[in-house]
Amino acid sequence: MTTGRPVRVALLGCGAIAQAHLRAIAANPGLIEVAGLYDADRGRADARAAEYGIGHVYESWQAVLDGDADVVAVLLPHDLHARFAVEALAAGHHVVVEKPLATTLAECDAILEAAAKAGKRAHPVHNRIYDPGTDAAREFIQSGAIGEPFLAQTVGLEPPQTVSVRPWLGTKAGGGGVLMAQAVHPAYLLRWILGDITEATSISGARKVLDMTSEDTAIAIYRFKAGPIAEMTGTFGLNVGPWDHRVTFYGPDGYVEIGSRHGVRGLSEKRFGDREIHPLLPDLEWGTGFARMWADYAHGFRDGTPTRVSGADGRAAVEMILAAYESAQTRRTVDVPLRS
Ligand SMILES: NC(=O)c1ccc[n+]([C@@H]2O[C@H](COP(=O)([O-])OP(=O)(O)OC[C@H]3O[C@@H](n4cnc5c(N)ncnc54)[C@H](O)[C@@H]3O)[C@@H](O)[C@H]2O)c1
Repeated sequence: MTTGRPVRVALLGCGAIAQAHLRAIAANPGLIEVAGLYDADRGRADARAAEYGIGHVYESWQAVLDGDADVVAVLLPHDLHARFAVEALAAGHHVVVEKPLATTLAECDAILEAAAKAGKRAHPVHNRIYDPGTDAAREFIQSGAIGEPFLAQTVGLEPPQTVSVRPWLGTKAGGGGVLMAQAVHPAYLLRWILGDITEATSISGARKVLDMTSEDTAIAIYRFKAGPIAEMTGTFGLNVGPWDHRVTFYGPDGYVEIGSRHGVRGLSEKRFGDREIHPLLPDLEWGTGFARMWADYAHGFRDGTPTRVSGADGRAAVEMILAAYESAQTRRTVDVPLRS
């Protein structure tokens, strides 16, 4: 690809999350542009094209494969990620695949192998790694403000509407429940800060709020190679908002919390000279991470530069979730890496 030309992206799937990607691409003029949209529901693709001023809607998936887009963004129900990503890679396109990268390790490996064979890149959408709040928390930790983190906790409180607006998520097409669909975000965030895990333990809630195939509420506990432990709680059962997402890292000298309602806050006597909780970054703009992610990936596609997040990171996040499922099913602590 010639340096300087915008990276051209075909969007596959024009549902809810396509809007975040369209806005993120529009926030990077000259670097990325939309080649066209495709959705099995043609009306939905046409509506999105009109809404975002996109000039091209593909007639078929084959037309996307045969087209001149550099990248295909796979924004589909989870059980379709691997099939479409592999086809796009085999046809010579890079891929950016919404989270989770795929629903099994075999599917993740098929994507990574197709990318290696085609000499193309496959990235998962781990957008929260690109949030300014994540950078603020990571820098706080790396500065030594809280000492070496030894414990982390994450909470994801969402309503049943998360599932009801995308009914496939309540079926086998979700590849799991709240852990696969929601907690994969805090899972990759924990790994970004604390490194790889060595074991997982998990239970799922038996008092279900939603009528869905998999769990609507779960707790997973992880041990990290470097020593820390973490607890991750997620639910789709909270009817009454406001809802919340929080990730907190604790060290001997304080803590730092990334929260969707309060921004990033930290306590560190070393840093602040007191024992109060201080705001580090008050305003968290949810969409910013998508724009920064696309910029990083586009430079990688165009200039061959390394990126913050790779396909292997997508696989590792899926493995964290699958290890939790194996634990819940077997009622045992499960060693990681999993035997795939
Ligand atoms: N990163 C985030 O914060 C975030 C937030 C929400 C959703 N997501 C992820 O985005 C992905 C899509 O979720 P969504 O909320 O947009 O779902 P959605 O149900 O709103 O949209 C899915 C779209 O895919 C289309 N589709 C289904 N099968 C197709 C096929 N065979 N060919 C072409 N189009 C097909 C549907 O018509 C629909 O428009 C999922 O992986 C989900 O987990 C990520």
